Amino acid sequence: MDIKIVEVGPRDGLQNISTFIPFDLKVSFVEKLLRAGLKDLEVGAFVSPKWVPQMRDSLEICKKFKGTMALVPNQRGMDQYLESGLKNVAFFTAVSDTFNVKNTNKTFLQSLETYKPLIGQANLDKSKIRMYISTAFYCPFDGRISSKKVFETVEKLLEFEIDEFSFGDTIGRATPNEVVELVKGLEKILPIEKINMHFHDTYGMALCNAAKAIELGIKSFDTSASGLGGCPYAPGASGNLATEDLVYFCENQGIDTGVNLDLLVEATLRIDAFLSRISSSKVNQLIRGQV
Ligand code: HMG
Ligand code: MG
Repeated sequence: MDIKIVEVGPRDGLQNISTFIPFDLKVSFVEKLLRAGLKDLEVGAFVSPKWVPQMRDSLEICKKFKGTMALVPNQRGMDQYLESGLKNVAFFTAVSDTFNVKNTNKTFLQSLETYKPLIGQANLDKSKIRMYISTAFYCPFDGRISSKKVFETVEKLLEFEIDEFSFGDTIGRATPNEVVELVKGLEKILPIEKINMHFHDTYGMALCNAAKAIELGIKSFDTSASGLGGCPYAPGASGNLATEDLVYFCENQGIDTGVNLDLLVEATLRIDAFLSRISSSKVNQLIRGQV
């Protein structure tokens, strides 16, 4: 495989949906995504069910799919993560304090204090650690975030054993020039293998941004099947870059993703029907019409 696709649909894709999706439907969604060749999936969030009710069955889901990843915001979430038996943990913070407080009730520095012992526990557990850095381009409340501020945020995390940093265009407003500026600066402080890009597609720029990042040598991307998604605490944010769009793009540029597009579209049929939604991926819509 030439690039790694991390399928975040079962977490980022579903977390913002107010209708509770039955456990069996979530399980079958994940099973079909795996069958389509996706190997890296984020399927849950050990967050407060008062804040994100859709994720309240994450422990049961994670126990069924031990090779996947889940979000953890605090010690209580870490305890559930360790109980689940997963070996991939995703902590999350943000460059913008305004967003971070709305999302987790903590500033960046407060979240760092929370994560310090949890990173130690994850290292002892031999878990792989991802750190999400949200609002790496724009904040829904504070507007444009300077790349310099992102670099300063990353620098405060360099002393920790973190395997991967995922940079979030949380509200999907970034454009390729901003991606170039961020990635070129990040490469000076992080090994490129540790950089993952997480684009939302609010302005329809997610694939352009991913294409630019690929040109710059980035090899790890978060996407969501059928373009499901959005953060409940980022007003105006729409779904992630659709997995189908990135797979179609890559496979036609000679970049191997290991994903079977027909099986991927198949995986989205039941969940989109349950939600009475039309896929936001044109590639998905076209393939549906053909099969
Ligand atoms: P808080 O209210 O400050 O926490 O929330 P608290 O410790 O005061 O607890 C409040 C209640 O929640 C208590 O229950 C706790 O027990 C319970 P009560 O006593 O009132 O009955 N609680 C928990 N329950 C289950 N699991 C837990 C947990 N922790 C507390 N882990 C907290 C702080 C962090 C918990 C809250 O703010 C929260 O859950 N936030 C999560 C928000 C979220 O999931 N956002 C979406 C994910 S981030 C994202 O989408 C961006 C990303 O995709 C990247 C990008 O796009 O940029 C990653
Ligand atoms: Mg996101």
